[in-house]
Amino acid sequence: MTAETPDLAREVHDARWSEMTEDARPVAGVPALRVDDVTLRFGGIRVLDGVSFDVAPRTVFGLVGPNGAGKTSLFNCISGHYRPNSGSILLEGVETLRAPAWRMARLGLARTFQHPALQLGETVLENVLLGAHSRLPGGPLAWSLRLPSTSKAERASRAEALELLERTGLRWAAHARAGELSHGLHKAVELCRALMSHPRLLLLDEPAAGLSHGEVDRFVETVATVRADLGLTIVVVEHHMGLISAITDRVMVLDHGAKLMEGTAAQAQVDPRVVEAYLGREAVEDEPA
Ligand SMILES: Nc1ncnc2c1ncn2[C@@H]1O[C@H](COP(=O)(O)OP(=O)(O)OP(=O)(O)O)[C@@H](O)[C@H]1O
Ligand SMILES: [Mg+2]
Repeated sequence: MTAETPDLAREVHDARWSEMTEDARPVAGVPALRVDDVTLRFGGIRVLDGVSFDVAPRTVFGLVGPNGAGKTSLFNCISGHYRPNSGSILLEGVETLRAPAWRMARLGLARTFQHPALQLGETVLENVLLGAHSRLPGGPLAWSLRLPSTSKAERASRAEALELLERTGLRWAAHARAGELSHGLHKAVELCRALMSHPRLLLLDEPAAGLSHGEVDRFVETVATVRADLGLTIVVVEHHMGLISAITDRVMVLDHGAKLMEGTAAQAQVDPRVVEAYLGREAVEDEPA
């Protein structure tokens, strides 16, 4: 809880917890996410080739594979930024293929990006608050007129943003300009911003890239807490196998746009097809220019 507005923060936290556990109650047998036979082409290049997998509610699913395998493109399809050429994507049983990216927050989806794009001139707190816009009452006019309903919502959001920053160890930076923070801290700010939309499904694209060992450990703890407290389903793209082993229930390995295998992280690490996909890449990288 934040020292600034402890009562309001506690109220928001408690209300949010019950709201999330209500909303996030899984419908028996329906996956949180179903990707079915998704194919994506750019020109003649097949970036995703008939990819299918299910993610069970309230689990953490890892998406791994060599550079260029299609992981971010798959995220872009799920989040509505890319339109696959064929296939189907269902969030909690609802087809989302025709939904534009801006609608996805209302459907319970939030994501972070491989290269975080924060408003560098704004404070960390303002950046985190941006994540709340999709679910707040009233439009921009109501906000600019500062109607009583919106200012109450604004105060509650502010308290919640400060609480999220506290949880992720960033409370001290709330009033600093985002541009003053390290790349590793940008990732944590982006995670807080994503959580502000109250997602039920969270996509994280390389959250540990550029993080120090301490920051990775902190991130693992944060994922465990938000998953337990908020009943989230998480899909995470990551090259850091230690992190994948620590936080995932299952993983899928992609290579050249196709699914290579699915199983636990431990199974993936000893799977000969996976080892070959990675060694093949290293062998190419090791070749003298
Ligand atoms: N908008 C686009 N136009 C053309 N090609 C694209 C586009 N987006 C992705 N690609 C191509 O799709 C392939 C997969 O890229 P993607 O970024 O999805 O890989 P990745 O698995 O996320 O890799 P990395 O681990 O390096 O982030 C690459 O060959 C990339 O050049
Ligand atoms: Mg990527």
